[in-house]
Formats: sequence, C-alpha cells, structure tokens
Amino acid sequence: MLNVTFVCLGNICRSPMAELIFTDMVKKRGLSNSFRISSHGTSYYEEGNPIYPPAKRTLEEHGIEGAHISRQLTLKDIKNNDYILVMDSSNLFDVLRLTGGAYGEKIFKLRSFTPSQGDVADPWYTRDFEKAFNDVEEGCRYFLEFLLKEKSEAFEYDKRH
Ligand code: 4NP
Repeated sequence: MLNVTFVCLGNICRSPMAELIFTDMVKKRGLSNSFRISSHGTSYYEEGNPIYPPAKRTLEEHGIEGAHISRQLTLKDIKNNDYILVMDSSNLFDVLRLTGGAYGEKIFKLRSFTPSQGDVADPWYTRDFEKAFNDVEEGCRYFLEFLLKEKSEAFEYDKRH
C-alpha cells in the first residue's frame, strides 16, 4: 500500500485534478488496491470548497469524474503519506516550511519525474486549464512508471489477484 497526496496552494485546481487523474490511471492498470490517494492545499484560502468549476469541466472533457473538498495540509498528513507531490516550487517552499525542512525524502515536485521537469502551470493565473491538465497528466504518468519500476514490491498483491 502506498499513500500518495498531491499538494497545491488552494486545493481546488491543480492538486484535485492530480488526485482524480492519478486515481483514474491506477484504476485502469488494476492497481487501485495498492494506493490511498488524496490531495491538500498549503493554504486555508479555499478550505471546504469544491473543485473550481473550470478545472472540473476540463477533467470531464477528458472523461474523468469525481469530487473533492478542499483541505489544508497538516504535518500529520505529511507523516501519514509516503509521497507528497507538489505542483510547483512555491508549494515546495511552503511544505518544507511546514515541516521545518524535515521529510524532504518524500516530498517531490510532480514534474520532477518527467523528462522536461519544471512546474505545473498554475491555471489560477494562466486561465489555461488544458495546459494544467496536460502537465498534471504527464507528471502522474511518469510518477506511476517510476513506482512500477522502483517500488514493484508495493504492487505484488494487485499483480496476484
Ligand atoms: P490551486 O489554484 O492552487 O491549483 O488550487 C489556486 C486556487 C486559489 C488560489 C490560488 C491558486 N487563491 O489564491 O485563492
């Protein structure tokens, strides 16, 4: 079992998109039983709010359904997860400030797993939700490939059933 949480600033655009995209991806691979997947925001700005409508619409255009309510990330969430995947350098800074620099070994930028690296474009400012979707989808795809290659022991149960 791997516990994975995706993190952005507001937890209404990028990280809930990542949560639902990654959930869909592992389901299609028959690996749902190997994961507990969530998302959080570094801020309390949107606490209790649903996925931002343009982000939800973009997910639906790609055939991905699901809901999420914004929650602020706590130290407990960091302790309880194996991977904390942030969307950009600003999120990384905020998460490391929360931990006082600890747990760095399980905190990654999502796109650090992709050949092109970099940040997930923030649609709150760019208004380009399609670009954010593509950045997140690519990051999730490469992250899953990394896990299948490097952490194959986590999937033994799913592979046998
Ligand atoms: P997210 O987008 O971090 O991808 O959920 C944002 C949502 C809200 C704000 C900023 C970014 N905000 O400033 O309220």
